[in-house]
Amino acid sequence: MITEIGTDIYRAADLLRHGELVGIPTETVYGLAANALQQDAVLKIYAAKQRPRFNPLILHVPSLDKALPYIKDMSSNLKMLAQQFWPGSLTLLLPKSTVVNDLVTAGSSRVALRVPAHPLALTLLQAIDFPLAAPSANPSGYVSPTTAAHVSAQLNGKIAYILDGGACAVGLESTIAGEDEEGHLTVYRTGAVTPQMIEAITGIMPKLQTRPNEKNNPQTPGQLISHYATRTPLFLSTQWENYIPKRTFGKLLHISFSTLPSITGYHTHWVLAPDGDLSTAAKNLFSMLREADAGAFDAIVIDEVPAMGIGLAVNDRLHRAQHHLKGA
Ligand code: TXA
Ligand code: MG
Repeated sequence: MITEIGTDIYRAADLLRHGELVGIPTETVYGLAANALQQDAVLKIYAAKQRPRFNPLILHVPSLDKALPYIKDMSSNLKMLAQQFWPGSLTLLLPKSTVVNDLVTAGSSRVALRVPAHPLALTLLQAIDFPLAAPSANPSGYVSPTTAAHVSAQLNGKIAYILDGGACAVGLESTIAGEDEEGHLTVYRTGAVTPQMIEAITGIMPKLQTRPNEKNNPQTPGQLISHYATRTPLFLSTQWENYIPKRTFGKLLHISFSTLPSITGYHTHWVLAPDGDLSTAAKNLFSMLREADAGAFDAIVIDEVPAMGIGLAVNDRLHRAQHHLKGA
């Protein structure tokens, strides 16, 4: 199969209608989309990404109204969040209706739904009469793609088409929120919609449950332990100091947040967000990690960013990308 890259929404819609996979832009990261109502098409996603079947997929729809057939009900707090943040970088976990295939939810009674805030994605979703199941368009476990070229670099030949919508404005995957068994508002994955923004709308500060409490538990979004990882071993600079005596690396890349540090011992220094803006850090992170991976370094050592706003989500991805040395 030859993978075409282009901006033809109607070609993308046609391919999706016929059960093919299409890379789609969203404001967060690129998605690997399929017709969520066709089981064979959804199976192709798991195969192309080599994604474990127990890891469920987000449904993308063009509006709150169009989400209704796929859910059983919606609490008033979650409805307020949808009204406020859709289209936008918020995925809601809601009780699923019988229309949603178990393959999409990996057997869970909840379905993840979002309305992406990207003009091409929205026009595409309006042009079709089915929802799109779309995980991030990267091989399972690797860094998410934020450009069409990133998608093509790894899925070329495996998917029919990539809809090129330019570089993603946010650069990190959506915030995932829902309610736990006791009805507490809960954030399962951090993103551009922060806990404070959720509190401002609902009056409730959501509980953070972003760490997997059991290995590979499909009820807990996200979150296989190793995720968003580069092939080059990556360490947080705070952790790095613990590793130095254990192992020596040759060519080291250091990535700092906003200014070049005065520390020595590195081959190369890069700055994630020269303007000091956390949104810039979010937007640049995955591109920079991919570039770092291509740079033939022996290790990447990266500083955390200030833990506020979207900086929480940046640090979360850094923690998940961290390499774990055996026995360390
Ligand atoms: O920004 C995003 O959310 C992007 C764009 C393409 O929309 N998508 C994305 O999908 O990040 P993915 O599959 O890479 O991450 C979705 C996460 C996964 O960790 C999955 O386990 C969780 O959401 N998830 C999806 N459906 C779920 C469900 N029914 N219950 C619990 N977790 C779910
Ligand atoms: Mg992903």
